[in-house]
Amino acid sequence: MKILVTGGAGFIGGNFCYYMLDNRPEYKIVCLDKLTYAGNLSTLENALKNKNFKFVKGDIADKILVDKLFADEKFDVAVNFAAESHVDRSIENPEVFLVTNILGTQVLMDACRKYGVKRYHQVSTDEVYGDLPLNRPDLLFTEETPIKTSSPYSSSKAGADLLVHAYYRTYGLPATISRCSNNYGPYHFPEKLIPLMISRALANESLPVYGDGLNVRDWLYVEDHCSAIDLIIRKGRVGEVYNVGGHNEMTNIDIVKTILNELGKPHSLITYVKDRKGHDLRYAIDPTKIHNELGWLPKTKFADGIKKTVEWYLQNKPWWQSIISGEYKNYYDKMYNSPRG
Ligand code: NAD
Ligand code: DAU
Repeated sequence: MKILVTGGAGFIGGNFCYYMLDNRPEYKIVCLDKLTYAGNLSTLENALKNKNFKFVKGDIADKILVDKLFADEKFDVAVNFAAESHVDRSIENPEVFLVTNILGTQVLMDACRKYGVKRYHQVSTDEVYGDLPLNRPDLLFTEETPIKTSSPYSSSKAGADLLVHAYYRTYGLPATISRCSNNYGPYHFPEKLIPLMISRALANESLPVYGDGLNVRDWLYVEDHCSAIDLIIRKGRVGEVYNVGGHNEMTNIDIVKTILNELGKPHSLITYVKDRKGHDLRYAIDPTKIHNELGWLPKTKFADGIKKTVEWYLQNKPWWQSIISGEYKNYYDKMYNSPRG
């Protein structure tokens, strides 16, 4: 079994590579990643030592490169994590989101069709459903919830999802889609809420909370997302969407206070700042379908997952400090441009 993992130098894709190397030792993994600002080869440092793992630098929207890679590697399965993933950046500059998230998906699916890949899996997001009101805790996103996006990021992900469905319907591409809630855990890029707050709190810097801090996200430990994708690519039904989430809704302010408490830092570091434009109020996933059909359940409780995550950031300061200082670009040259044994 040979799997293409795109975006494997990013947060979830990197965790997925490790999950698969540990749990499916019979699989060969090829990671294709452009190494944008969010991609970090140091995340894959240990994977690169594994004979079942190979890294290729390249853009999923580069038709020629992708075609040659598929011709050379003869993949059985392709899992697409590669994306521009940060909502705030999409508000500043939408264009690259459309190119990578939509056109990149099209290029990958065309290659899957041409080379007869047995399963294409699109890693999508609960953000395609828009948001839920704060005063209706009874409402959850199901796979039938209409797509109704708020940001250029979520719109680009929704565009890709529609295209995946069209390739399934029109060409019979054996495709599946997963829509997951907010992930947290190791290797999370420090521009996102949880790692940003950990890194700033450790430096005794102010913690910028958007608006009133009462927006709600539904947090899932990243390893649980990886186990869901592993199940879907092996046992999920083609043409289907699977929501992934663990019923763990929390307000942003409660997340930030939890982090401060874990680190023993004062709540006075919290600073309320201007709200995000179009800020989604609440996300909440109903994971009934993946539970009933595939038997998936999350393993990590938030109280344990956040402790493990804070501990990981304390133990792995060089990983995130080099990102913050920009040194990770030099790391790439060292790791990738110089010969490895
Ligand atoms: P990330 O930003 O940490 O990583 C994205 C990776 O994709 C990086 O390594 C980057 O270099 C690579 N990449 C970007 N553009 C590329 C291109 N054109 N060609 C090849 N590689 C490219 O993102 P993440 O948080 O790990 O998210 C991974 C996927 O999961 C995304 O599709 C995202 O929409 C989805 N998702 C994320 C979350 C979350 O909470 N982070 C939740 C649900 C779904
Ligand atoms: O729900 C899944 C989505 O989760 C993924 O599709 C996205 O790729 C991922 O980035 C994430 O999107 P969010 O916008 O929810 O994540 P972010 O970490 O950017 O923000 C989480 C919440 O925290 C959100 O309500 C905005 C708020 N926030 C964020 C930042 C960066 C702050 O209050 N202050 C901040 O500085």
